[in-house]
Amino acid sequence: MNLIEIKNVSFSYNDELVLKNINLTIKKNDYLAVIGPNGGGKSTFVKLILGFIKPTKGSIKLHTQKLGYVPQYTNFSLDIPITVLDVVLQGRIKKYKFFYNEEDKKEVYEKLKLVKMYEYKDKKISELSGGQRQRVLIARAMVSNPDVLILDEPTSAIDPQGQKEIYDILKSLNITKIMISHDLNFLLEGVNKVAWISKTLVLHDAPDLHLHRKDGHFCEIDFINEVHKCKVSND
Ligand SMILES: Nc1ncnc2c1ncn2[C@@H]1O[C@H](COP(=O)(O)OP(=O)(O)OP(=O)(O)O)[C@@H](O)[C@H]1O
Ligand SMILES: [Mg+2]
Repeated sequence: MNLIEIKNVSFSYNDELVLKNINLTIKKNDYLAVIGPNGGGKSTFVKLILGFIKPTKGSIKLHTQKLGYVPQYTNFSLDIPITVLDVVLQGRIKKYKFFYNEEDKKEVYEKLKLVKMYEYKDKKISELSGGQRQRVLIARAMVSNPDVLILDEPTSAIDPQGQKEIYDILKSLNITKIMISHDLNFLLEGVNKVAWISKTLVLHDAPDLHLHRKDGHFCEIDFINEVHKCKVSND
């Protein structure tokens, strides 16, 4: 079942062409990794899916409106004494609804347990480590029970152990996922598709990528070389 269909999408900021003729279909239960160089257009790509910006050309068809999002940069100020519970409750906010009920709280507790942050629920968000805070943000994106969870570099600035915890949590979530990341070694544990985005998009099936592993480790440089070969042969 197709959840998201992206056809011939191009996008420009002012006169700068950032994404060129992108085609991609995301199916139910896909776990898509989005990789590529800084400035390649990865965040722009997910903002298009989320509807924050509109394609300059082409079309994006969503077969669900239930999208959960963990942004690359969070805008809440750490100076505000807001608790973990409050942050995750924000994910339950709907139009014309300003109060939380018991069901909202139940949902929040459940998702906090899922990301192993339930014991921290009354702590201030400013008192958490980066990895813990990121898990709280994943819980916030999950409390609306989305059909697709979209994460923009959820593990940047997190130590390897913290990264592994986050990837393990994501792997265990039975939901369609799109994740931007630079940590290829971790990523390939759970994903079934990999999109390389550098203005254009090159799609790989994850099982093919495992062929490029050396000594059980994934070699990013080899992969990038493969992608470039592939790009040339596709042109
Ligand atoms: N709001 C904006 N206005 C103008 N240009 C923008 C805006 N946001 C991004 N860009 C430009 O679009 C290009 C793609 O940016 P984008 O943030 O999508 O890259 P990215 O692949 O997510 O990079 P990174 O790995 O550094 O997060 C860059 O050249 C960037 O300068
Ligand atoms: Mg980005």
